Amino acid sequence: MPDACILGIETSCDETAAAVVRSGEEIVSNVVASQIALHQPYGGVVPELASREHLRAIVPVVRQALSESKQTYASLDGIAVTQGPGLAGALLVGISYAKALAYALEKPLIAVNHLEGHIHAVLLEERAKGNHAFAFPVLALVVSGGHTHLYLAEQRSVGWVYENIGHTRDDAAGEAFDKTAKLLGLGYPGGPVIDRLSAYGDPTAVKFAFSQMKHRDRRNHEKPEATRPHFDFSYSGIKTAVLRYVETHDMRARVAARHKALSAIPQPKQEDYLANCDPETLDLIASFQQAVVGDLVSKTLTAARACNAATLFVTGGVAANAELRRRFEQEAAKEGLPAYFPSRPLATDNAAMIAAAAYPRLLAQQFAAADFCAEPGFALR
Ligand code: KG4
Ligand code: ZN
Repeated sequence: MPDACILGIETSCDETAAAVVRSGEEIVSNVVASQIALHQPYGGVVPELASREHLRAIVPVVRQALSESKQTYASLDGIAVTQGPGLAGALLVGISYAKALAYALEKPLIAVNHLEGHIHAVLLEERAKGNHAFAFPVLALVVSGGHTHLYLAEQRSVGWVYENIGHTRDDAAGEAFDKTAKLLGLGYPGGPVIDRLSAYGDPTAVKFAFSQMKHRDRRNHEKPEATRPHFDFSYSGIKTAVLRYVETHDMRARVAARHKALSAIPQPKQEDYLANCDPETLDLIASFQQAVVGDLVSKTLTAARACNAATLFVTGGVAANAELRRRFEQEAAKEGLPAYFPSRPLATDNAAMIAAAAYPRLLAQQFAAADFCAEPGFALR
């Protein structure tokens, strides 16, 4: 099926997305309806609101993806949907809709792990450029609002298999960006705002420290890989450190004033943020970003050396960060490690990555049972 077209559906968090991808590498259409404006007043994703909004958006988003692709329901070769991880109620909207479509159209249904989707965002774009050969093992850092995971991937006859060799013990890196932005009065989501504002501050102004958390996995002694060291992350401490800095440097009143001023602007622009940030705040923002990026880069490259990784993938929403990409490119190049990233639109949640991840399964006829369920804590293996 070289020209097989898959309709992908993604509703795991706060984006209702649908896309049509041909042969696992050509994006024919890619529609993302963001719920950012809905969740903005709460400073984070409200699960109940997310499910309700997915219900409202799913039909028009799928219809738009189909009409932009010039495909018809009948001409599709398969339907792919995110099974997890994610918010249970949000996942259920996409899964129920995909099941109904597959049943009514008598098309194969493929269940996809959201984290494998993020890895396929990179693969999809590399394949489109003609790059089909990667040296294994591939080390993939999936870094987003909900996840900070390191996977060591090997190729099998059907797709890849994954071993988790590191994860966050508490907050995900994207969550740290979001929470820090919120406590500085910068609104939600914080990652893109901190990314843009960091260029205006001194990244060496405030020092933040991270602990080294290399340890053997003690969860399962029966597995041979249990002897492999793990490379864990922790990002809840830096949020507390930023909060302490705000309190000890008398920044509370400035934060409150900034929050009030920016909340009054429906869609603040870069000049609005800059007009409401004093130099001390810009230094704090730049230092925060520098610290998180430095920790992600150094732990990932330590893991790459320890596991003899031959290729590096960095993907997920935080992979859109300009400084993260620059530092990974620079440091990986020093070690002769080829590093790949998705383009910015494919770094954050989308359904093209879900359709792409489903393609090897369609070829191998690995279809989902009609009664499969949402798996909010779905592990990638
Ligand atoms: O992959 P994604 O869309 O959703 C999850 O699977 O979580 O990632 C969203 C996360 C948010 O935490 C957001 O603040 C962060 O990615 N993010 C960024 C940037 N763009 C999005 N973080 C840092 N720099 C960015 N440019
Ligand atoms: Zn994601």
